[in-house]
Amino acid sequence: MKVKHRRISLPIIMILIIFGIVALTEFSPINAANSKFTQEKTDLVTNAGFESGNLQGWNQHWKTRQASITEDAFSGQYAVKVGPGRGFCLQEVMVKPNSLYRITAYLKTNTGAEEVQLIVSDYGGPEKAVSIALPDYTKVSIDFQTSFVTEKLIISIAHLFGHGHGYADDIQLTYLGEAPEPKIQEFVDISERGIKEEGGVAQLPDEKVEWFQNNRFGMFIHWGVYAAMDEGAEWVRHDQAWGHEFYQRKARDPEKGFTASKFDASQWTDLAKKAGMKYMALTARHHDGYSLFDSKHPSSWTSQKDLGRDLIKEYVTAVRASGLHVGMYYSPMSWRYPGYYDVTGKDAKPNVWGYKTAAWHKADARDMKEEVYEQVTTLLKDYGQIDYMFWDGGWLGQTVDHEMEDYFWDSGKYQNPDNEWPIREKYITRDNDTGKALGIMGLVRECQPDMLVNERFSWIGDVHGEEGGSMTTGDIRFEHLEEKCVSLQKGGWGYRPDRPVFSVEEVVGFLSNCAVRNMNLLLNVAPDREGVIPQNQQEVLLEVGSWLEVVGKAIYGTTGGPWQPLFGEYGFTFNDNKIYCHIYDGYRELNSGTFTTQSLGDKTVSKVVNLFNGEELIWVRNENNTVTINGVDYTESPAATILEITLNQPVFKE
Ligand code: GLC
Repeated sequence: MKVKHRRISLPIIMILIIFGIVALTEFSPINAANSKFTQEKTDLVTNAGFESGNLQGWNQHWKTRQASITEDAFSGQYAVKVGPGRGFCLQEVMVKPNSLYRITAYLKTNTGAEEVQLIVSDYGGPEKAVSIALPDYTKVSIDFQTSFVTEKLIISIAHLFGHGHGYADDIQLTYLGEAPEPKIQEFVDISERGIKEEGGVAQLPDEKVEWFQNNRFGMFIHWGVYAAMDEGAEWVRHDQAWGHEFYQRKARDPEKGFTASKFDASQWTDLAKKAGMKYMALTARHHDGYSLFDSKHPSSWTSQKDLGRDLIKEYVTAVRASGLHVGMYYSPMSWRYPGYYDVTGKDAKPNVWGYKTAAWHKADARDMKEEVYEQVTTLLKDYGQIDYMFWDGGWLGQTVDHEMEDYFWDSGKYQNPDNEWPIREKYITRDNDTGKALGIMGLVRECQPDMLVNERFSWIGDVHGEEGGSMTTGDIRFEHLEEKCVSLQKGGWGYRPDRPVFSVEEVVGFLSNCAVRNMNLLLNVAPDREGVIPQNQQEVLLEVGSWLEVVGKAIYGTTGGPWQPLFGEYGFTFNDNKIYCHIYDGYRELNSGTFTTQSLGDKTVSKVVNLFNGEELIWVRNENNTVTINGVDYTESPAATILEITLNQPVFKE
């Protein structure tokens, strides 16, 4: 079995967990650090197993009051149950400052619950959470470090969405010891991005990916017929187990269906530009198989057929005219085909529609593949230059079997002439030199030689993805291009009018935390069935844009470094002879008006400016070659204060 780097999206992971294929839910970012410490007190939580038979020691959220005691316990007699809908059960716990802790709990969900979360917050760093959606009690854990001034923190059990419940039992907080003294850092080693090859196709060279890296911030758009469904977001057809005809009827409902009647792509591009975004990626087709473009495959279901409009053409034309880079999202997987769950016709994977193994599924899977080839070829050939393709879902039957996926899809340069799922000649593009039928990546490099792709279609990808609404952590990514995608609307990528959105501070936090790790941020908006991006999403974007207008040079065209970030406290970007210090709340709250850098070695500082207000600041050089900057106004800029340090020479020599 080949080992590949591949990201599996959250809903998929949940499905895998539910089906028992992946059994890992533990999350421990500071494992390495812990081993040195002997574990101490573990009974820090009051009524940790709810054995008092009531919520003694725990609070509820004053608005929801959706927590109660249940006898469905992991151990002992009782546990807590949160939900339906929004429910919290919280406890404030006294802790020591500057210390390492681990919190563990046993969690599960019942039918109708989207997920249950264990959250730790107010400990002096950004909120941390781990969530699961599993029918059996499963242990989860979070490691974290309290700040220098932390005295107490909050532990919560939360159920946010769905008509089911989350369950929790035996919530344990363990003191692991004093936090290690952070060492003063020298400049990091800027390692080269290695160019890898797979399936006969190499990743794009540096000069072709530079625009992506320099631009840092893009707009993701999830838009399709699901925008018209009240019952859910883009997974609604799956989650409601609707059949194709029923779903289609809902989509075509003249009153409440998908009309795109107010869709004006130039309004989206205007918004993206005002938000400081430099590229866009729209769902040309999601897992439900509805295509926003003019696909000629006989099985296709498209906006051209339903609305007489090629929405992708309108989009592509507007994005190009606006000067932004053109990106698309395309899902190879399609719920429309029972064969998707049973490609061999011999082994149906579990699925919500109750499809059982059937020999005809093999031909059905072939049709699905052929439709993908026709559609991918159309997108690559008929829409001019495409700069970025975000594939989503080469998985078969929502499970992961890389070898099978490579084989089934012919994801490399050429198709295997003996493939058991052959596509007809009229949907094949042949290589000019060899006459061989091109596989997916062969087609990509043939038709769009400069287009970047991600790793979600059985090929390594030029870009790797991180998905989801928690802040990016960890070290600077040098070895490959990485992009975080997150939905501005919390919970769901497709339109859900009732859901809250991330705040300006949170979005600025996402973007800055990506930049200091050398990553891009692809932020999703969810237009409604008429094609309008909701007001609350627009407002946040415009404010982020205003922030970027002032501090943009700390983001665009920069590289993460020259020092590693310290999560929740600070991180850095640099460009030529400038270092940008991104300073977050964990640090801002503790240091009134000063910031101390890591070691500058033999470099000298010639100027320091607070980018947000343009104020020049004074500094002193310390004995260990760090510099302490004074008079920093930490009150003005949202989420991150940015200081620009000008050196007397480039940070790194060419
Ligand atoms: C996942 C989901 C999907 C969403 C995507 C965004 O793959 O299946 O709904 O489009 O992630 O990254």
